[in-house]
Amino acid sequence: MEKKVDLKGFGSVAIHAGHQKESNQAHLVPIYASSTFVFDDAEQGMRRFSGKEDGFIYSRWGNPTAAEAERKITAMESFGIQDENGNPLPLKALMHASGMAAITTLLLATLKPGDKVLTHFSLYGGTEEILQNVLPELGIESIITDLRDPQKAEDMLKADPAIKMLYLETPANPTIQCVDLDELCKLARKHAKLVACDNTFATPYLQQPFKYGVDFVVHSTTKFLNGHGTAIGGVLLGKDLERMNGKVYKMYKTLGGTPNPFDTFMLINGMKTLEVRMDRHCSNAMQVAKFLDTHAAIAMVNYNGLEHHPDHKIAMKQMKHPGAMMSFELKNGFDGGVAFMNKLRMCTRTVSLGTCDTLICHPASMTHYSVPAEARKKYGISDGLIRMSVGMENVEDIIADLNQALQ
Ligand SMILES: Cc1ncc(COP(=O)(O)O)c(C=O)c1O
Repeated sequence: MEKKVDLKGFGSVAIHAGHQKESNQAHLVPIYASSTFVFDDAEQGMRRFSGKEDGFIYSRWGNPTAAEAERKITAMESFGIQDENGNPLPLKALMHASGMAAITTLLLATLKPGDKVLTHFSLYGGTEEILQNVLPELGIESIITDLRDPQKAEDMLKADPAIKMLYLETPANPTIQCVDLDELCKLARKHAKLVACDNTFATPYLQQPFKYGVDFVVHSTTKFLNGHGTAIGGVLLGKDLERMNGKVYKMYKTLGGTPNPFDTFMLINGMKTLEVRMDRHCSNAMQVAKFLDTHAAIAMVNYNGLEHHPDHKIAMKQMKHPGAMMSFELKNGFDGGVAFMNKLRMCTRTVSLGTCDTLICHPASMTHYSVPAEARKKYGISDGLIRMSVGMENVEDIIADLNQALQ
């Protein structure tokens, strides 16, 4: 940020951090729709390629619009966190074209054949696909366990020295389960392992994994960070600057999962309102969960904010608020789920999450339609399960729509 002000609030940082004046004094960062950047002379080209001079070369390697997004998200993820010397925690971010691109760069840049990843059984499907089916072909295995039991995690770390990384996603997609960042980071430090955390569901406003000592954070910025459903995107952040500027950056440039500047521009503007949006999402979610929890048509509400939820304590330990994601189970199964979806009048029938409007999906008839019921059950996806990303509408309208669809 150019204005050298010590901003006290997360919301101010989200708005101002990362912006740099440019020659035309544009209020907002321009969309630098340019694949390449020009050198004044051959000597400047040499200085840029040798790293002796900062500056852009080619947009797959970095672009000024993406750089503003990187500075902003770095400021948010490190907000109020200090390193061991009491200085603001330095982080490096790399913007990607999708969350999956960011996760792929992370895994390919840090793991080699023979390494193993220890992870929790509830993960976003794309991440699970990479860990279970893509990486094993490269000689990298994943061990999947219940990381909510730190003793089990420690036993596994002791038993298998090939484990190089703990890969966490908390709250996790699709179950919204939480794992204990503090406990798992302590274990990782004790056994000299890397820790990566997917912070998509929480966002840095609700949870800052670097506070607990993780090495990497990834996001699908497609969701709450963008906030308006206008662009797919992802980011990888790391605190080991040498590793990030070296091996990780080299892999990033080579894989080519860089974002386009228009999408990044949309993301920058979305991120500015993260605090106010999340406050509204979260307050609505709590009220909606309480309404559903006492409704006669509903067998179970899976929301970390409810005190009877098994992960409530972990969520409250590490999150400012348990967030806006929940699921609930209808008593009358698959047909009940289909009927409920068809009756919705305001809430949006779709997959994805994190936009202004309330998004609702019925996994058994949509995302998991082709998965056999038995296999679905293993992941806690029953026939009547409904997943919801609670939006920012007036809460009485959300509740009224759900109520009439539940009749
Ligand atoms: C937790 C989580 N991580 C990663 C991803 C992948 O992100 P993208 O779709 O932007 O590639 C998703 C997508 O839904 C997600 O929910």
